[in-house]
Amino acid sequence: MIQISPSLLSADFANLGRDVEMLNRSEADMIHLDVMDGVFVPNISFGFPVIKSIAPLAKKPLDVHLMIVDPGRYVSQVADCGAAIMNVHYEACTHLHRVIQQIRAAGMKAAVTLNPATPVVLLEDIVDEVDMVLLMSVNPGFGGQKFISHTLRKVEQLRDMINRHGSGALIEVDGGVNLDTGALLADAGADVLVAGNYVFSSPDPAETIAKLRRCDNR
Ligand code: DX5
Ligand code: ZN
Repeated sequence: MIQISPSLLSADFANLGRDVEMLNRSEADMIHLDVMDGVFVPNISFGFPVIKSIAPLAKKPLDVHLMIVDPGRYVSQVADCGAAIMNVHYEACTHLHRVIQQIRAAGMKAAVTLNPATPVVLLEDIVDEVDMVLLMSVNPGFGGQKFISHTLRKVEQLRDMINRHGSGALIEVDGGVNLDTGALLADAGADVLVAGNYVFSSPDPAETIAKLRRCDNR
């Protein structure tokens, strides 16, 4: 069954505690947290103090997606926030292999993220070292954007690469996920779906999460 990582970027920031409690009671497998610095992406979201306040309330693993320049500077802060998974962009790390090692040494799972224009083949020399690959299916920076369909081909290419290497890396996809794109992604070989706007703009977010979790056997 596909895993769901709802993104708090589309939650009600004035009631984050309430939305985290909702996710605790839902079938969400993890909680996705989008950190933006206004430089790597053209938007600013929230930072470590917010994640630190959420962590004691959250009963699901925190999946932290850093859309920031040179994320390797913050490995220990992210670990101190209580993150289970630290996602760093391929495009933001000059020494990606070192950053991945540092993330694991800090006790977190390491994930590498690719922008829509970055080809999967660039992961050939790192796929054995990571716990997860996050494929962006929108240009990062904003929730509620349209799914870029060439991501389906990238998921298939990555699934082939992972099988060829015998790597245990999970494939996560982020951006424009709904029941339709979710079913296509599950077919293509995705393991984890991030969903923000589709979950939080729905009348019953917990029920939407449950439906997304079953989108592969509709
Ligand atoms: C976008 C973020 C996503 C975002 C997804 O830059 O990385 O996690 O919250 O939002 P939706 O599901 O609304 O496309
Ligand atoms: Zn994200």
